Amino acid sequence: MTPDTKIRCWRLQDQTQSLVLAADGDQLPEIVYWGPRLPDASDLSMLALAARPDVTGGILDAVPPLSICPEARRSFPGHPGLSLRDDTGAVLLPRFSFHDAKDADNELTLIYRDADLGLDYQAIFTLTPSSGMIVARATLESTRPIGVQWLAPPVFPAPQNSQEMIDFHGRWIGEFQVSRTPWAPGARLRDNPTGRTGHEHFPGLIVPCNGATNTQGQAYGFHYGWSGGHRMVAEELPDGRRQIQWGHASGSYREAATRFETAPLYAVFSDAGINGCATAFQRHLRDSVLKLPTPDRSRPVHYNCWEAVYFDHDHDTLCDIASRAAELGAERFVLDDGWFGQRNTDTTSLGDWTINHEKYPGGLMPLINHVHACGMTFGIWVEPEMVNPDSDLYRTHPDWILGDADQLLGRQQLALNVALPEVQAYLYDHLAALLSAHPIEYVKWDHNRVLPEPDHRQAMAVYALIDRLRANFPTVEFESCASGGGRIDFGILSRTHRVWLSDSNDPLERLRIQHEAALFLPMVVTGSHVGPRICHTSGRATDIRLRAWVAAQRHMGFEMDPRELTKDEAQVLREVTTWWKANRSWLQQADILRLDSDDPAMIAELQRAAEADRFVVFAGLSESSTQILPRPLRLCGLDPDAKYEIRLLNRDDAPALSRGTPLLKTDAATLSGQYLMHQGITLPWTFPQSIWVIEGTRL
Ligand code: DGJ
Repeated sequence: MTPDTKIRCWRLQDQTQSLVLAADGDQLPEIVYWGPRLPDASDLSMLALAARPDVTGGILDAVPPLSICPEARRSFPGHPGLSLRDDTGAVLLPRFSFHDAKDADNELTLIYRDADLGLDYQAIFTLTPSSGMIVARATLESTRPIGVQWLAPPVFPAPQNSQEMIDFHGRWIGEFQVSRTPWAPGARLRDNPTGRTGHEHFPGLIVPCNGATNTQGQAYGFHYGWSGGHRMVAEELPDGRRQIQWGHASGSYREAATRFETAPLYAVFSDAGINGCATAFQRHLRDSVLKLPTPDRSRPVHYNCWEAVYFDHDHDTLCDIASRAAELGAERFVLDDGWFGQRNTDTTSLGDWTINHEKYPGGLMPLINHVHACGMTFGIWVEPEMVNPDSDLYRTHPDWILGDADQLLGRQQLALNVALPEVQAYLYDHLAALLSAHPIEYVKWDHNRVLPEPDHRQAMAVYALIDRLRANFPTVEFESCASGGGRIDFGILSRTHRVWLSDSNDPLERLRIQHEAALFLPMVVTGSHVGPRICHTSGRATDIRLRAWVAAQRHMGFEMDPRELTKDEAQVLREVTTWWKANRSWLQQADILRLDSDDPAMIAELQRAAEADRFVVFAGLSESSTQILPRPLRLCGLDPDAKYEIRLLNRDDAPALSRGTPLLKTDAATLSGQYLMHQGITLPWTFPQSIWVIEGTRL
């Protein structure tokens, strides 16, 4: 607190940013500054005074603060930061006063109290200087049980020098679609009732300031790390101020209680374009959220058998496929859906987690032994939270489901009420038995339907189940899959190690999905597989070169039936996989920087090593360009004064219609960072639906 007792101030800062909170007396504080680092000698209370707004006609006689928890009781002219009722259903309107503050080691805890209502509100801010990430959480404690309709983590103001906000929607095989919404008076509300993170509502928001692009300008980014469905309110108040609130989806807190807690809100400021937000999320997830069992282990090349065999499991076929996958370079074999109960279609057996002895008369060990003999580790698919009505589990325990008995099914299945102790015990026991009895090193954990209604207890119970399994099987890695990318968030990723970004293995769809997902996800968690020649979800035939390089952009794997590969295709796949293995040690630590492509047909990114001594550019031409010649591709994130040698790795892929002599078709080029970022790379002409891969080394 400053010597000026009328204004309390706090500051969090690292080398690049300052966040300043200030409050009049005992009132809740506002974030009065968040941006580039302020001079050390800045007088924070002066800063708060200087930002005090004027008052004019037609409004109240003072401007109600846009505090970290705006209070309806104080005439706040927008969405309040919390909404409560007592056990009779009467609305509670708290009025908090300062109680205590702890400010140490980049963590600030502010405690406010409403003694009359018996409520304690805590806001906790943590800054991680290595990523620049600010994590904000709130808790609410009450002396008697109350109901919570809404509780936001600390509320952030949004910049007024911004025209639009960017958030995300999507669908199965079409994750991470971008919505750009102009700011206007009133609120943009995203309320996700699906009970899971969802394809439809990724909990992320980017607010670019005027003029910001991927590579330049200022931007703010937010992500709510919660797997149970979120609600976002981005609101411009009648007076022009803007606020951003996050929290659990409406109706998530189902019962009266004395303690409530939000999920962490991840918030970042960037002075380096939208890429600055992206790299902060990527780094923070990789270095501070993710808990890999063996962090130094290189990410293994996957083989997943789903699109090769679906439910048709046959020992000899799977062994043949495993041998071929290993020969192509796979290091982990994942046995997908179909190994248990009577699971010959997706209509049956979820919940019956016992091995199907018709398909596996000797159990799973003969297949696992074969996989090991091929030099691969073994992984397995499960979908623990679900049950089919056609299952022994449902027939025995119809009362274990979440929601009504006559609810709509999703993929012919129901969700179990995982918060019931008996369901927890059943699932833990069956999964633990599976993991104890077999050398399983990887679990692909699926979730293929939305919940009948949001219920935060379900997400908490799933977290508890995974946490217990992880504690007792600490070497096992987990993948979060939900019909592809239906459960991707930092909450699930603090207890799992990879996401199945999308069920689309179509490289053109993937190129776009991966590009957008890189706003939040690093390579190391983002599963990407080489699919069949004719994609099973788009019907499109694509060249193996495109399929292989798009998978090599992220955590690489294969998912086609390797028996369909021609000699040429197998050879290309082997070569690209060899390249990936040779480079993965630095790619795993690299920043993914999205390039501002001047050709809308080109989706391009630069992956820059942590030491900034090397990079690789993936430039995918998704469709035909409107102009004849390729537009130069401007790079970013390089040292303008350094020299780089750049080389077109796959220059032999240039088609015969590329008739000229661009240097990169035959030679490496040595160019300054300044030139590469301002003028850009002149690429050879190529076919649509193909990709260039450019390696760069700092000299
Ligand atoms: C949906 C997943 O996204 C697929 O990869 C596959 O595992 C199927 N479920 C299996 O049912």
